Parts: sequence; C-alpha cells; structure tokens
Amino acid sequence: KKQAPNAEDIRARKGGTPLVSLTAYTTPMARLMDKHCDFVLVGDSVGMVLHGLTSTLGVTMEMMILHGQAVARGLSQAMLVIDMPFGSYEEGPQQAFRNAARLMAETGCAAVKLEGGVEMAETIRILVKRGIPVMAHIGLTPQSINTLGGYKVQGRDAQADAVLADARAVAGAGAFSVVLEKVPQKLADKITAEVAIPTIGIGASAGCDGQILVVDDMLGFFTAFKPKFVKRYADLGPLAEAGIAEYAADVRARAFPGAEHVFADQAPAAKTPSK
Ligand code: KIV
Ligand code: NA
Repeated sequence: KKQAPNAEDIRARKGGTPLVSLTAYTTPMARLMDKHCDFVLVGDSVGMVLHGLTSTLGVTMEMMILHGQAVARGLSQAMLVIDMPFGSYEEGPQQAFRNAARLMAETGCAAVKLEGGVEMAETIRILVKRGIPVMAHIGLTPQSINTLGGYKVQGRDAQADAVLADARAVAGAGAFSVVLEKVPQKLADKITAEVAIPTIGIGASAGCDGQILVVDDMLGFFTAFKPKFVKRYADLGPLAEAGIAEYAADVRARAFPGAEHVFADQAPAAKTPSK
C-alpha cells in the first residue's frame, strides 16, 4: 500500500506519467477513489454539487472544513487538497494564512488551492514561505464569475498572454502545481511546456501534466448541466432514481419489507459450533 504523496512529490511529477485527480466531498466517495488518484480535491464545487447553490460564492470555511474532515477519513493513499472558499483569502496574505492554516489544522489536508494568477502571487509566496503548500487555479476561476461575466473559455486570442502571465506568476511564487480550467488546448500545451510545475487540466488539454474532474459530473450524479469538458464515465443519477422509484412502488404495494427483512418474535436458535 503506497503512502500519500506530498506537495513536493506532486511537483516532481512534472512531465511524467499524468497525475490523476478527482473531487470528493464525502467519506464513501473518497474511499472509492483513494487508490486510483494521486490527489483528491475537496472543491468548493461542493456548494453546487451537494448543496444546491447556483454558484460557488456562498461556500463557507465551515462547509470546507466539514467536507474536508469527511474526505480525510476516506483517504490513506491519495493526497488531500482543499479549496479555499470565496472571501477567505482575497483580503491579503494574513487573512489567507489564517484560513489556510485553519483548513490544514482542522482537516489534516496536505495543501490548499486558491483561485487567481498574477494578483494572488504575493499571497501564494507568503503561504508557501510559511509552510503551506499551494495549488493555484487559473483560466476560468468560478469564484470570479461576476467579473468574468459567465463560465466562458479563458485565454482565447488577445487574452492568451494574460493567462500565460498568470501561470508564470503562480509558478514563480512557489505554487507546487496549477489547475488550468477551460483554456484553449494550444494555450494549455504552451503553459505546460513553459512552467516548471505540473499543470492539472479541466477543460484544457490531454497534454497537461494531470487531469481533474468533478466526481459527481463524471459519474452522472450531477445532472443540472454538463460542461463540454466533462466525460460521463457512468450514469449513476438515472440508476439511483430508478432504484428510488422501485422502492416507492414496493412500499405502496406492501411488497417491501419482505419476509427476509423483518424480525420474528423469538431470537433464532444459537448456531451449533462447526467442529
Ligand atoms: O471546486 C472544484 O471542483 C475545482 C476543480 C474543478 C478544479 O476547483
Ligand atoms: Na474550486
């Protein structure tokens, strides 16, 4: 059984076998992916995926800690990374350190992830210098949805230089890896070639140093919408609903519980020893 990699192990995977990662928000799902993933992210996507929020802006530190603790209980081989939620780090390095340290102390996570490029470089530098490994997240940054004006591809045409500058800035500031979300394939490849840290693609390129998906998206549990970059590896939502519908019909027909699910007046006789 392998030991969970740390941030420096992940950094060292630059240019090697692609890093595998998924999001998780609960213990049982974390258990299912533990041996298959290099790292598992408790994304602030939890707000939309599990809590029905319409964006990630309403996600709180308390939610990240609660789900972070749950996921931590399900992992022994994959590294745990937790998203810093909107409003928990943007004021400046001191606020960012205080909240990142709380996430690490209360969940045992090995690193935090935060959104932003050039504008977050100073904060990343200070966190890393003071003992907190940071995964950066550039391109489409969903916490900035209100200033980006929609979940659009980032870095097309004249925007490409800005995304490349973001990648260079976070790498230079000491981030151990960087998520590239919804950027054109060629730009993702260029960034991957130019920065010394692993790029983790989501809606980016197969040429990235790793990939991440939201687990409920790829398993077909989250069906409110499906981004183009999601590949459905299973269709569990409809499967779950079919099971629920069958249960409802059984209950109404008094077909559930069956004889095997109910208890007799008397306890069954003790089993006779086999030898
Ligand atoms: O919150 C999240 O799930 C993420 C990944 C999609 C990278 O940030
Ligand atoms: Na996120």
